Amino acid sequence: MSNTKKTGGLAGVVAGESAICTVGTGHGLNYRGYDIYDLANNAIFEEVAYLLIFGELPTQKELSDYKKKLSNERDLSDTLKTILENIPKNAHPMDVMRTASSALGCIEPENEDFSNQNEILIKLLGKFSSMLLYWYHFHFHNEKINTSSEQDTIAGFFLEKLHNKPPKKEHIDCMNVSLILYAEHEFNASTFSARISASTLSDMYSNIISGICALRGPLHGGANEAAFRLVSLYKNADEARVGILDKLKNKDKIMGFGHRVYTTKDPRNVVIKKYAKELSTTKEFENFFQISEMIEKVMWDEKKIFPNLDFYSASSYHFMGIPTDFFTPLFIISRTAGWGAHIIEQRANNKLIRPSSTYIGVDNREFIPMEKRI
Ligand code: CMC
Repeated sequence: MSNTKKTGGLAGVVAGESAICTVGTGHGLNYRGYDIYDLANNAIFEEVAYLLIFGELPTQKELSDYKKKLSNERDLSDTLKTILENIPKNAHPMDVMRTASSALGCIEPENEDFSNQNEILIKLLGKFSSMLLYWYHFHFHNEKINTSSEQDTIAGFFLEKLHNKPPKKEHIDCMNVSLILYAEHEFNASTFSARISASTLSDMYSNIISGICALRGPLHGGANEAAFRLVSLYKNADEARVGILDKLKNKDKIMGFGHRVYTTKDPRNVVIKKYAKELSTTKEFENFFQISEMIEKVMWDEKKIFPNLDFYSASSYHFMGIPTDFFTPLFIISRTAGWGAHIIEQRANNKLIRPSSTYIGVDNREFIPMEKRI
């Protein structure tokens, strides 16, 4: 029993080796040895996805080939469109993403020897935006969108197809940085789920879907949607201060705050907060940003708990006109790069992940025949 408590939630447990990412103490946040700030300041998401999956930064030619392959995958088959049309309008977009990836896995499965694993990842990265936005426009605007676009990045394509007009440069930049920040984070819950699935030698789609399922909850990826709803509760900063103090008194969890690995700050927060501030250009958005900052202040003053990446991601997505339910699906699009890298790494040196538990149930019970059970 005491052993179970010590490792509750596997906190502090080293569950394997990886050459993909360092998080927290000692190293800071690095993808394949590159500092997250260098990547956020200088790279595009596709470059980072390539780095994560193939281990090295791409050359100019490798990057343009990769981008072309991703763009070529934006189209959806008629079968997939029909499936998307039949997913109910009131489904959560995370469920749409999960179902659509599963459907794609039936239509264009991975080879049994995994020889096309990189192509499957390109397929998913290329099609995720189209699948989500096809479903969205079909149900909410009665429109069957096409996937042709001048935008050569996932960030630009997503924003253009969402709003049906060319996106502003500052929005593309913010989306690009957000996708980079969300792309990878070591053995977080969804990545670990994807690796567990991969360790059974399951196919790429199933492994990615395992990641999606774990990401959906508000203690993980779903926190960005929950953080937006929290900030939206308050009309102004004063109201937020009172409201958060009240919640803390009730021992409520404040979504978008805290982290299992970081103790004093989430290094990604400073980057996304800067973008959120830059995008808060209207009175309404300025007020939203001030409310967010007040929540940040109260959480630090009262609990010494800091905002994680999800907190100001919520603001920046809102300021770009992204529907709240799309916040976590965007996390999927980005994290698919990290999940993919981990699945490939797991497969390259596989050992079934199968830990044990400490039994705390009842022992030595005598079987009760049916007629004697009450
Ligand atoms: N609001 C209020 N109290 C908190 C919070 C929070 N957001 N986070 C931690 N605490 C308190 C918690 O109540 C506990 O206090 P006590 O020891 O008095 O009971 C203490 O801090 C330790 O918290 P924990 O939940 O046991 O820590 P954990 O390592 O299991 O959880 C966490 C980490 C991220 C699940 C947690 O901080 C949390 O629930 N945060 C809110 C949800 C969230 O923002 N999730 C996103 C995580 S980061 C990015 C991502 O993956 O999407």
